[in-house]
Amino acid sequence: MTRFAPLRQPLMAGARGCWYTDVQGRQHLDLLAGCWCTILGHAHPVFTRRVRRQAGRFVHAGTGYLSPEVHQGVEAFLSILPGDYRVALLNTGSEAMDLAIRVARAATGRRAVISVERGYYGATAEMLALTGTAGAHPLGYRLPVPDCSRCEHSLPACGLGCTEPPDPLCGVAAVVCEPILASGGMVVPPPGYLPRLETLARSREALLVVNEVTTGGGRTGRWFAHQDQGVSPDLVVVGKAFGNGFPAAALLVRDEVEDRARRAGLTHVQSHGFDPFTGFLVATVIELVREEGLLARAGEVGRELKDRLDKLAERFPVRNVRGDGLLLAFDVPEPGFSAVARRLEELGVVVGAQPVHSTFRLLPALVLGEVEIAVFAGALEDSLSRLP
Ligand SMILES: Cc1ncc(COP(=O)(O)O)c(C=O)c1O
Repeated sequence: MTRFAPLRQPLMAGARGCWYTDVQGRQHLDLLAGCWCTILGHAHPVFTRRVRRQAGRFVHAGTGYLSPEVHQGVEAFLSILPGDYRVALLNTGSEAMDLAIRVARAATGRRAVISVERGYYGATAEMLALTGTAGAHPLGYRLPVPDCSRCEHSLPACGLGCTEPPDPLCGVAAVVCEPILASGGMVVPPPGYLPRLETLARSREALLVVNEVTTGGGRTGRWFAHQDQGVSPDLVVVGKAFGNGFPAAALLVRDEVEDRARRAGLTHVQSHGFDPFTGFLVATVIELVREEGLLARAGEVGRELKDRLDKLAERFPVRNVRGDGLLLAFDVPEPGFSAVARRLEELGVVVGAQPVHSTFRLLPALVLGEVEIAVFAGALEDSLSRLP
């Protein structure tokens, strides 16, 4: 095993729906859909059957060859994101974000990128450089985190000052943002935040890149979390959910922006770009989400789960219950946080514990049901009621 492998116990032997089974046969409730990916649930029967069939038919094609599956994947994206977009089918969110920045730079002829403190954009060296604390960074500038719950200013008097970089900053290619900063502690920006970033991008003649790697795919009850916020991104980056556990990601670019980047000589070639299997995955996930009414379900079940958390917050030190659909989080201040995290693990409940923010994140599969909510609420109540 490589030294980079994460050392998490126990060893998992398999998974179905919202449940892992470990090698001892014990069940663990997965409230993170793996790494926020398996929105249809693990081993979804129809998805699995189709994957088997596709694996025996066509998985990979050489660079430059397209296939009906690729057209189906692209058409499926265009059916959920109306507008003049073109689609690049890729493998990971990091790759898609990286390409978004390269496209923005080629199209604008500029280099600087405005990102957001505690934003997360991927694991490549350049994307990691965008992440960090507010202020200057090697590629441009980071805006302060839009976390009203921990901010010394208050709305509306603050005038969303967190969307204003210093004036001398010039040569801006892109403003990048997430509708909800899931990795950064599940920060839900205040109303009007995304439109302000769009205004910022337009005023600097930069492009607006909306990173929907976590928020896209239906988790919020909408295909994309920016869709009801009155913004028109130039580039939209997606991943995770669209592969339901397989690597699938995409960059959706306005056609006029892609034309400019292409004229500037931009190319992007890698072994698995536009693979038939990626097209198949995207088209199949979108079809099954539609067929099973999972957008509506994410909204409804998300409200139910949030209600349960709000009720627990009336009796226990549960703070700042927040999120959208099945993208939820809550805080438990220390010393309670560590004890609750330990107890949930003992009880076989997998949540995203983030000690640095005292935050627990919940990003389950959209097929989460009443049984799972009851098991989770029971385990959380048990953990909280043991606190001194
Ligand atoms: C918002 C966001 N962007 C980009 C990425 C990187 O995606 P991947 O891990 O598929 O490379 C992630 C992964 O967690 C993410 O949450």
